[in-house]
Amino acid sequence: MLTVERLTKSYNRGALAIEDINFVVEPHTFTAILGPSGAGKTTLLRCILQLLRPDRGKVWFQGRDLMTCSARELRESRARIATVAQQFNLVRRRSALENCLGGRLQELPLWRCLFGLFPNSLLREGMAALERVQLLDVAFQRADHLSGGQKQRVAIARALTQRASLILADEPIASLDPKTAHAVLGLLRSLCAEEGLTVICNLHQVELARQYSDRILGIQAGKLVLDVPTHQLSTSDVNRVYKS
Ligand SMILES: Nc1ncnc2c1ncn2[C@@H]1O[C@H](COP(=O)(O)OP(=O)(O)O)[C@@H](O)[C@H]1O
Ligand SMILES: [Mg+2]
Repeated sequence: MLTVERLTKSYNRGALAIEDINFVVEPHTFTAILGPSGAGKTTLLRCILQLLRPDRGKVWFQGRDLMTCSARELRESRARIATVAQQFNLVRRRSALENCLGGRLQELPLWRCLFGLFPNSLLREGMAALERVQLLDVAFQRADHLSGGQKQRVAIARALTQRASLILADEPIASLDPKTAHAVLGLLRSLCAEEGLTVICNLHQVELARQYSDRILGIQAGKLVLDVPTHQLSTSDVNRVYKS
């Protein structure tokens, strides 16, 4: 599904934010990326999506080299990759449903986007996605009137409406209370098993990674220092990621 080879990125020719990162992600799995603040987790996700141009290395997604493919191919591949961010990244004044449909705007003619005239089939898909994340009752509420947990579930419903096959989640639970955090991670996990999605999720908390992921990657100062199936994670592995 995703292969990352020797991925390296520096900002402004300074120190390397990530260096020589290699890993393979199998479809329908939940991979947690653990690492202290500043380790390079966000940089890695942004390089995968080509929002940041890596200095060198390769990113293969569904058999396509995202570093060298055409702009049109990159657009097609990005349409299959959804992002879920700590800060929710919803359009605040739009409804939950409209936010979900936002994942498909590029398919629609401009006049439909401008007037908010969405085809019925797309509206049904958006509603089905909201039902899947148990938010049908707030479909017509403005995003900024929703709780943090609800916002994050709308972001996940948007990924479903987008028909993404890969979700890149960057600390999606960092601003949620513990109970809501469990609900959001549980939902992401169930999407891998039930909807055939693949999730890569940056996390701070070892215990949550242990509970919800199939595999754990650890980044320390820009380097991949850990790549284990979750059930094999040991205390010394954790220490390697969080050593000062
Ligand atoms: N836009 C930027 N310009 C310069 N340096 C940056 C920028 N973004 C991140 N960095 C640096 O790159 C390193 C990795 O940052 P980041 O990927 O945000 O780590 P994490 O997400 O693990 O906290 C840090 O040293 C950070 O200071
Ligand atoms: Mg980050």
